[in-house]
Amino acid sequence: MALVNSKKMFEQAYKNGYAIGAFNVNNMEIVQGITEACKEANAPVILQVSKGARAYANHTYLVKLVEAAVAECPEIPIVLHLDHGPDFETCKSCIDGGFTSVMIDGSHLPFEENIELTKKVVEYAHARGVTVEGELGTLAGIEDDVKVEHGAESYTKPEEVIEFVTRTGVDSLAIAIGTSHGAYKFKPEQCTRNEEGILVPPALRFDILEAVSEKLPGFPIVLHGSSSVPQEYVKMVNENGGKMPDAIGVPEEQLRKAAGLSVCKINIDSDLRLAMTGTIRKFFNEKPDKFDPREYLKPARANIKEIVKHKLINVLGCAGKADECK
Ligand code: G3H
Ligand code: 13P
Ligand code: ZN
Repeated sequence: MALVNSKKMFEQAYKNGYAIGAFNVNNMEIVQGITEACKEANAPVILQVSKGARAYANHTYLVKLVEAAVAECPEIPIVLHLDHGPDFETCKSCIDGGFTSVMIDGSHLPFEENIELTKKVVEYAHARGVTVEGELGTLAGIEDDVKVEHGAESYTKPEEVIEFVTRTGVDSLAIAIGTSHGAYKFKPEQCTRNEEGILVPPALRFDILEAVSEKLPGFPIVLHGSSSVPQEYVKMVNENGGKMPDAIGVPEEQLRKAAGLSVCKINIDSDLRLAMTGTIRKFFNEKPDKFDPREYLKPARANIKEIVKHKLINVLGCAGKADECK
């Protein structure tokens, strides 16, 4: 089947208590690892491209790679989504250039300006069958050019969501409930430590998620910054020449709980980066004589596939749901 927008996926995900995985793509091995996992698990998927990914790999290459995945996986629905669209022009360029969904991220703007910008993108996108994600509230971490320090993030205000959604016409809303971008989601002082000395992060603000959902019944919510930062990969990086002290993510049980509520899209990028980097570091460390990129990209791709499969089955709950999302 051809690329689809996110409408049907979110309807089904909301109704049946699961979330669609939105994984960032930057090159061929990442596209292949993700989509091979989704094909085997019969799961719908959102492949998302950031401004940084477009700058790195070039818009056309990314669209063609995703089109190749669509041809290789005709049995699963695939959305091609712009992640953190910074302005109207970037959204327009992606819509005109084959994307089926875009995010316009006006979360750093004053409320009225966020509404104005988001509405403009929605009008352009909907006229072309493209779905739009907006955002209210800011996450800590780096989103392309916008860096938000820990402590400067702000939770979504439930009292603003009805007006935002009604006036903009967005199809889904990203909210801030304590997740953040990258591999250092919580400062050690925000956490406790378990018996083995591993950091235990504070719980997400499910009270805010529930207040938002009460105001917007049936409306799909999106969680950014939802990597769990698997400690086995942090260890693999650190044992093979890397340095990622106190890297920590969102516990998977909390994401599973969110997927059973109104959260229909869960964004994961850092976990795939960690899987790829850990695998390649280990390979280089163990086989310093090797220099054929295929030899280290192959296990990296295999481990991306494995981690995505784990997310589909054990975290998102969308394995086996491809058919109902078509
Ligand atoms: O939200 C950020 C995503 O992980 C994309 O990251 O801007 O480095 O491509 P990037
Ligand atoms: P992570 O950094 O937690 O993977 O979040 C990715 C993301 O939100 C992309 O928009
Ligand atoms: Zn994000």
